Amino acid sequence: MVFAVNGQRFELSTVLDPSTSLLDFLRTRTRFKGPKLGCGEGGCGACVVLLSKYDPITEQVEDHTVNSCLTLLHSINGCSITTSEGLGNSKDGFHPIHQRFSGFHASQCGFCTPGMCMSLFSAIFNADKTGRPDPPHGFSKLTVSEAEKAIAGNLCRCTGYRPIVDVCKSFASDVEIEDLGLNSFWRKGENANGNVDKLPSYRRNEIHTFPDFLKNEIKSSTCLMSETENECLTECHWHSPISVEELQNLLEPKELGIGKRVKLVVGNTGAGIYKELDHYDTYIDLRRIPELSAIKRDSKGIEIGAAVTISKAIEALMEGKEILPGSVFMKIANHMDKIASVSIRNTASLGGNLIMAQRNQFASDIATILLAAGTSVNIHTGSERILLTLEEFLNRPPCDSKTILLSIHIPSWNPGRNTCSENGNSIKYMPMKETQLLFETYRAAPRPLGNAVAYLNCAFLAYVSRTSDEFVVVSPQLAFGAYGTNHAIRARKVERFLAGKSLTVPVLLEAIRLVRAMVVPKEGTSSPAYRSSLAVGFLFDFLRPLVKGLMVPIKDLQMKISDCDANGGANGYFNTLENKSSLGLSAKQVLEVHGEYFPVGKPTEKAGAEIQASETQKYANMAANQAVVDYDMENLEPPILTVEEAVERSSFFEVPSFLSPTPIGDFSKGMAEADHKILSSKIELGSQYYFYMETQTALAIPDEDNCMVVYSSCQCPENAQQVIAECLGIPHHNVRVITRRVGGGFGGKALRALPVATACALAAYKLQRPVRIYLDRKTDMIMAGGRHPMKINYTVGFKSDGKITALHTDILINAGISEDISPIMPSNMVGALKRYNWGAFSFDIKVCKTNHSSKSAMRGPGEVQASFIAEAVIEHVASALSVEADFIRKKNLHTFESLNLFYEGIAGEPVEYTLPSVFDKLAASSSFHHRTEMIKQFNGCNKWKKRGISRVPIVHEVRLRPTPGRVSILNDGSIVVEVGGIELGQGLWTKVKQMTAFALNRLWSDGSLDVLERVRVLQADTLSMVQGGFTAGSTTSEASCAAVQLACNVLVERLMPLKESLQQQMEVLSWDALIFQANLQSVNLSSSALWIPDYSSMQYLNYGAAISEVEIDLITGATTILRTDITYDCGQSLNPAVDLGQVEGAFVQGLGFFMLEQYETNSDGLVVSEGTWTYKIPTVDTIPKQFNVELLNSGHHKKRILSSKASGEPPLLLAVSVHCATREAIREARKEHFCNGSDGSTWAFQMKVPATMPVVKELCRLDNVERYLENMLSHR
Ligand SMILES: Cc1cc2nc3c(=O)[nH]c(=O)nc-3n(C[C@H](O)[C@H](O)[C@H](O)COP(=O)(O)OP(=O)(O)OC[C@H]3O[C@@H](n4cnc5c(N)ncnc54)[C@H](O)[C@@H]3O)c2cc1C
Ligand code: FES
Ligand code: FES
Repeated sequence: MVFAVNGQRFELSTVLDPSTSLLDFLRTRTRFKGPKLGCGEGGCGACVVLLSKYDPITEQVEDHTVNSCLTLLHSINGCSITTSEGLGNSKDGFHPIHQRFSGFHASQCGFCTPGMCMSLFSAIFNADKTGRPDPPHGFSKLTVSEAEKAIAGNLCRCTGYRPIVDVCKSFASDVEIEDLGLNSFWRKGENANGNVDKLPSYRRNEIHTFPDFLKNEIKSSTCLMSETENECLTECHWHSPISVEELQNLLEPKELGIGKRVKLVVGNTGAGIYKELDHYDTYIDLRRIPELSAIKRDSKGIEIGAAVTISKAIEALMEGKEILPGSVFMKIANHMDKIASVSIRNTASLGGNLIMAQRNQFASDIATILLAAGTSVNIHTGSERILLTLEEFLNRPPCDSKTILLSIHIPSWNPGRNTCSENGNSIKYMPMKETQLLFETYRAAPRPLGNAVAYLNCAFLAYVSRTSDEFVVVSPQLAFGAYGTNHAIRARKVERFLAGKSLTVPVLLEAIRLVRAMVVPKEGTSSPAYRSSLAVGFLFDFLRPLVKGLMVPIKDLQMKISDCDANGGANGYFNTLENKSSLGLSAKQVLEVHGEYFPVGKPTEKAGAEIQASETQKYANMAANQAVVDYDMENLEPPILTVEEAVERSSFFEVPSFLSPTPIGDFSKGMAEADHKILSSKIELGSQYYFYMETQTALAIPDEDNCMVVYSSCQCPENAQQVIAECLGIPHHNVRVITRRVGGGFGGKALRALPVATACALAAYKLQRPVRIYLDRKTDMIMAGGRHPMKINYTVGFKSDGKITALHTDILINAGISEDISPIMPSNMVGALKRYNWGAFSFDIKVCKTNHSSKSAMRGPGEVQASFIAEAVIEHVASALSVEADFIRKKNLHTFESLNLFYEGIAGEPVEYTLPSVFDKLAASSSFHHRTEMIKQFNGCNKWKKRGISRVPIVHEVRLRPTPGRVSILNDGSIVVEVGGIELGQGLWTKVKQMTAFALNRLWSDGSLDVLERVRVLQADTLSMVQGGFTAGSTTSEASCAAVQLACNVLVERLMPLKESLQQQMEVLSWDALIFQANLQSVNLSSSALWIPDYSSMQYLNYGAAISEVEIDLITGATTILRTDITYDCGQSLNPAVDLGQVEGAFVQGLGFFMLEQYETNSDGLVVSEGTWTYKIPTVDTIPKQFNVELLNSGHHKKRILSSKASGEPPLLLAVSVHCATREAIREARKEHFCNGSDGSTWAFQMKVPATMPVVKELCRLDNVERYLENMLSHR
């Protein structure tokens, strides 16, 4: 077996396990470690590589991305693989894609970057192969809309995607260059067009994805399945039959061996869903059977071989003269385009999908849409071939492993007359005089484009004819799937009911009642009622434009469409714009530059990140999976799974008095002053998983003299050193913990990393050999813990004018089984709750010990939840007074006096309290008040979409800790720096480098010394730099900078006399000459410092505000974030590019908490969200469509390090603005759909976190369609 990786030839002569993945091979057998293992499920894109195939007959090379974690190594015989290193690397020079990732600050921890680069490269490379006109110099043929979607299947947990999208767009020939964000190629505001040439230059066709030697070998057939080759692969238990007959023979027991397990494979993407922990003896690859890969087209339809990939099927369906916009084939193709991600679609076959739907009850989209389109399939079972309708096929008992799906036939449908509108919009809105065909497909999924299986999908096909002023339905075909059914179904009862009927409101109502009764998810399915309501909603959407009394005039319809730019979950009317070619993302970054501001050098470019290579763990995982832990439950009390049970059994963690916050004012007095009271209102908050892209990992290497070196991906190496030493019973100085960098931490690699590092060290100590531990995503998700869930009960008193006079909160925090950092939760929560002036504020916060996995710090621990509680109280008060929440917010913002009272001793000077001006400035810059009016108008004329807008402030307290630093100058003038802080992707090294250059610059009075490029920051090493502490709480970067500044000051003092004397002797003195002389004169060129913050300034407050505008879809519950504007006071930013990245990344992570991420446990307390299938972090299609961030430069802060302020955590809290805006939109929906209601709940209601689609829909009523129709009927 021969293939190439980055132009290097690999020939496999040894027998390899056929289940070996390409990723396993690359990471363990080659030096190409760029592709990363983030999930092993096809769900994150960290492993994406380019796979190229050469056709010796046409001499064409076909290139497409694949997920190397799912691609089986044996399937790439004769192929060429390109990884990120193949595009460019530090030795041979980087590719413009890498350079632009760096220059646009699109890589933070770097773990996602290699996969992102390959997804983008493939999009560019394939666009450049098209016959489109040549683009201007430096650009590719990629369009902006393609560029935005290029990374739709790749997850990034750090950046918030905005800068990555900028990188993608920077290659698009139709990009507006001034729309691109902050970068290191030109200054913001400079005439960008003139600067295009400053972008790292891209030249087409520079990369050769397929090496000539492999082409030659293929031409001479030495590797393309020659006899010998086939034998070799057969030895590996890998077969590639070339006919159905050969396949049948192979499946015979005499060939296979009795009891042997065989697996048929095409793309093997099914392994991402049904994890392959079982062992198969033999694999049979179906892709070389011509019949299974053929696509035939005739007047009756299109026949697609079962091994044809989804991408190829989409291409085929879009091809041909008969393809009209709105045609059945095109709609099927459009729907397929939303399945999984590009790299999955490139290998996933249609047949594999249908087999999984038939055999494994997989929630397939393809089965549903093809079912409605009247598809039939050809199967080979036993010794015969059978032609079945797809419905018959799905209804059969699950196929055995010898049944082969051969092909799929989708019939052509006669569209009738007048099928298509002039502008290519949906056919169903056109004036129809004759019988016409309607076809629509729908899916409601947590993410519109990025790797999310639908809650429900459906497709409807029907002929309709017009009789005078009514439409009559002829032979409808209605299919529903993925809702928790064994397989997609045809709603026969509804079809029979509708057939031949004129479409009127009563008919529609009856039809949807029948649908609700039919589409009933099986037991155990999540959100069953929501899923049924989707079925109702989609059928309503499909038929509504044809129903007498509900028809929408075409003119209005078009107006509505242009009114909204939402992006919901379906293909149909409500989501007409979803088919818009672009995601429509745009962004703006504003940096206010203060007069006194002296930037410390240019933003430094980062060149991506690599993590340690690791051995494959497949067998370790299989073994671990076999392990059974048997607990002796005798004499044990039942586990504590709820906070109520913890209270009942007094199971609490103690909060030391120095961490106990104190109440403010007299609560009873405040309540007595109130005109109105809300008593004991309850809210509940769930957990959030870190989802760092690199899971927990460690490598331990025993060293001489009973020592242990542990490479740990952790935020607190010093603690790891201590725990490991204590566990091994050796002194601390025998344990060296090294942390180069961490692939995302967010608090999850603080204390939660210690058990992993310690277990690894223990095993290495026992075995006296190196040991590596890497947690697979599932184990990580089960063990990690994450954010603290909690239950809150609040009582609030307020005056009629909206001034709040008293607030009391009772909070029960679920801390899990061990203490971890949980005792800090009460003070963190109270700190964030104090953002408003509540008059008097009291609380009772209990940290409950339960039998759940231990909860730990997660970015903004406690503060995020408190932020939500504060806004929930404000909104409740606003509802009670029937005024806008923004009015109540403004009314209760702190004055400096009240701020000083609430944050005694840390509020600083009055001039530092920038929140009121931030709040106003943001409103002005984002036209908040004008947009609020526009939204009212929009809501007035849209029944099934509603918009909401919300502005929220934050006050966030941070604390500085003592931090060490060392700066050493080497003989050649290069500089090494060590700091206590760890680089987690937050840009700490970048800031430290800049600070070093800045501080040493003092030596040259004219500031002309530039040593930035000569500074290298070293990995953290607990024996080299003691008292390193931990990296958390947003302040480690500035503290590390302060330590480095101190160390540099000492060096400057030492060097200054020598420099001055040398300058008297020499006309020009260079840095190198100074260091040379310093060495000769034995000046100590290494300086260490421990920076200790001044007690009076070790805590300070951060301010910011955000305005978010959302649109909700009342049919699906989908929320689209139309726009977010943030203004954040960053003091004088140490590095605006880094800080902007922190603001955006934090906001998007917060967005995940408030809107998407459900980290759930079942009734036994076991984590059920355990992978990318069940846990959805934001992707590029779920971030704000317009995302504007302004860093306010608030002038000189004499007590801050270079006047800077923190940026890592506070902006995450601002994401609550999206939740609040969604609540506003829901309120509008409830007003309309509850208009007759007397339940009083229209205004005041609590909305869960995260506000997922089912949550939103539930608040807009799951039966809103029925109610609407019933209402219409009752008003007739
Ligand atoms: C991250 C991710 C997201 C996804 N999202 C969606 C989604 O939103 N909607 C959706 O519909 N699908 C989705 N899928 C499913 C995807 O479409 C299927 O995994 C894929 O089509 C299976 O094709 P394959 O060639 O990889 O099959 P394989 O994994 O190779 O095979 C799957 C199964 O089918 C058997 N098999 C394959 N071909 C044949 C044949 N011709 N005859 C008999 N048996 C056969 C195999 O033995 C195996 O049991 C997703 C998959 C992934 C990994
Ligand atoms: S590791 Fe392959 S997609 Fe996540
Ligand atoms: S930079 Fe994308 S995951 Fe860290």
